Amino acid sequence: MKVITVKNQLEGAKIAFDLLKEAMEGGSKTLGLATGSTPVEFYNQVVQSDLDFSEMISINLDEYVGLDGSDDQSYRYFMEQHLFNEKPFKENFLPDGKATDLLAEVKHYDSIIDSHPIDFQILGIGANGHIGFNEPGTSFEVTTHVVDLAESTIQANARFFEDESQVPRQAISMGIASIMKSKEIVLMAYGEAKAEAVKGMIEGEITESLPASVLQKHDNVIVIADEAAAKLLK
Ligand code: F6R
Repeated sequence: MKVITVKNQLEGAKIAFDLLKEAMEGGSKTLGLATGSTPVEFYNQVVQSDLDFSEMISINLDEYVGLDGSDDQSYRYFMEQHLFNEKPFKENFLPDGKATDLLAEVKHYDSIIDSHPIDFQILGIGANGHIGFNEPGTSFEVTTHVVDLAESTIQANARFFEDESQVPRQAISMGIASIMKSKEIVLMAYGEAKAEAVKGMIEGEITESLPASVLQKHDNVIVIADEAAAKLLK
């Protein structure tokens, strides 16, 4: 893993943007995308750029179960607000949180990922070390699946909702096995709350208790962390 320490989110976002640009110039066609606060400044950089996404495909990591894409708390809505409305893609895939048959939706999402291998994957990391919504204890072998969100994740995400009771308890998430198939992975981590997880991911043992530690087995991962998130690194 290559680790780049930056002063703040803006500096990190600019580096992630340069990596994306380079990947697209090198022929990358399919992007794996994340939501949450971590990639917001990165998406701002993308929106302000002259990069053309009209031939690009995006596949997001996850979506809450029970939320329609038009719901302002859904991840589809988030992506539209932060990126898709400004930068039209050829196609944008996210799991359908309103699918009546979740098992069928999970299979369908796997088939989408299989037909569009991810060239460039953006990741954030949870304070508990999750990537996507692959919570601690998730098998490294898993592909797309329905997740019961960890209590700590529900609490962490409550900041985006009116109160904690409104945070969905389940999500559909791309699995670790699929994330690991991406050709290039750029993980950003900002803030002290991520410091333990960042240390475990980079310097700890590879364990399903800290899902992001699996990235040590991938040969093209760049971690962009601010000083607070990197502060426990040797
Ligand atoms: C989002 C996702 C999550 C977040 C993580 C960090 O699509 O898959 O793994 O990247 O929870 O969230 P933030 O960036 O809000 O701290």
